[in-house]
Amino acid sequence: MKQTLNIGLVGYGFMGRTHSNAFRQAPRFFDVPYEPVLKAVCARNADRVTSFASNWGYESIETDWRALVDRKDIDLIDIASPNDTHADIASAAARGGKMVMCEKPLGRNAGEAEKMVTAVESARVPNSVWYNYRRVPAVTLLKHLIDEGRLGRIFHYRAQFLQDWTISKDLPQGGEGLWRLDAAVAGSGVTGDLLAHCIDTALWLNGSIADVTATTETFIKERKHTLTGRVEPVGIDDASAFLGRFQNGSLALFEATRYARGHKALYTLEINGEHASAHWDLHDLHRLQWFDHRDEGQLRGWRSVHITDGDHPYMKHWWVPGLQIGYEHTFIHQFAEFLQAAAQGKALAPTFRDALATDYVTDAVLKSAKSGRWESVAMAQQAGAA
Ligand SMILES: NC(=O)c1ccc[n+]([C@@H]2O[C@H](COP(=O)([O-])OP(=O)(O)OC[C@H]3O[C@@H](n4cnc5c(N)ncnc54)[C@H](O)[C@@H]3O)[C@@H](O)[C@H]2O)c1
Repeated sequence: MKQTLNIGLVGYGFMGRTHSNAFRQAPRFFDVPYEPVLKAVCARNADRVTSFASNWGYESIETDWRALVDRKDIDLIDIASPNDTHADIASAAARGGKMVMCEKPLGRNAGEAEKMVTAVESARVPNSVWYNYRRVPAVTLLKHLIDEGRLGRIFHYRAQFLQDWTISKDLPQGGEGLWRLDAAVAGSGVTGDLLAHCIDTALWLNGSIADVTATTETFIKERKHTLTGRVEPVGIDDASAFLGRFQNGSLALFEATRYARGHKALYTLEINGEHASAHWDLHDLHRLQWFDHRDEGQLRGWRSVHITDGDHPYMKHWWVPGLQIGYEHTFIHQFAEFLQAAAQGKALAPTFRDALATDYVTDAVLKSAKSGRWESVAMAQQAGAA
């Protein structure tokens, strides 16, 4: 019999569902050392959280995260609630000796994230942040190819995350479903929300970013606030773009916006090296576009690798070659690996400390957008996560 691991989830929204699915699926498809138990789910509305609990099979509910964190029968606190709740919940959970998984961005700013790192590291509890795109099989394969040196010296890394859902000036800010438009809750706009994903993947694939020069724009300056009913200034960035330099000498070009009409969640990245280039696109997430200059001349060209074979990362755990997987699987991969690492006393990247590195970059981006100057990025010391 496997040891049970009792999970307490905070938040039943978008991420609450992806995580609950991961808790259910990971032990069915991966050899994990624990049997996860969906012990309790917490959110403020008792009726809605009860209905969520019954749909997913949680044994109990809480309406105050403090009560959840205080429970002796919970081993792991998983934070899938808005950004302004992350620091208090994670710190209290760590103090209580619980494992902590937290949604991104880690903190609303690096100062908040630093305190969270201190909390989990001084309590020595397993911790991880759900930067799930690292575990798209095509992206993981790209990491292997880069680490093998197949691209040679890297010259360029560029990434974009494009959406269009806030273009209407009639959209209010704040409250349920719209907390991302409220700077007090979200910390920042697309910089912490979308660009953070691009930055986390980039730091993992191509190493630290040394400095940045950025610009941000808030296209709609005032919106009605759902909670106060008043028209209030908008404090978030609607669009954010930066140019930067990686420590390895390559150049960075990043852009995120919620004003790119027609794009719903278009995350793309490209890396150009001396020998080879690779391109990945979230809308075609099971493919890696690959160009190798060392290929035979007449047939040299971009190839589209369908990532479904058993020797591709993660794919032996799924169906048969030729059949692809999707977005939800990235969370299953991360949770399965978190359990494996925790049982062996190992850290699982991205740890809180790894995620702090992203907050340092987003802080520098926002600082540069204000100052109009190049800004250097603070460095998070590496904690040696797997
Ligand atoms: N990894 C990813 O790709 C990804 C994608 C989307 C969101 N996120 C992150 O996940 C987090 C949640 O985002 P979401 O899209 O699921 O939001 P959401 O609005 O869909 O859900 C938020 C949930 O938190 C609950 N909640 C709010 N305040 C609470 C409180 N004080 N106590 C308990 N519960 C509370 C709400 O009731 C709701 O159930 C955010 O930090 C966001 O940045 C990550």
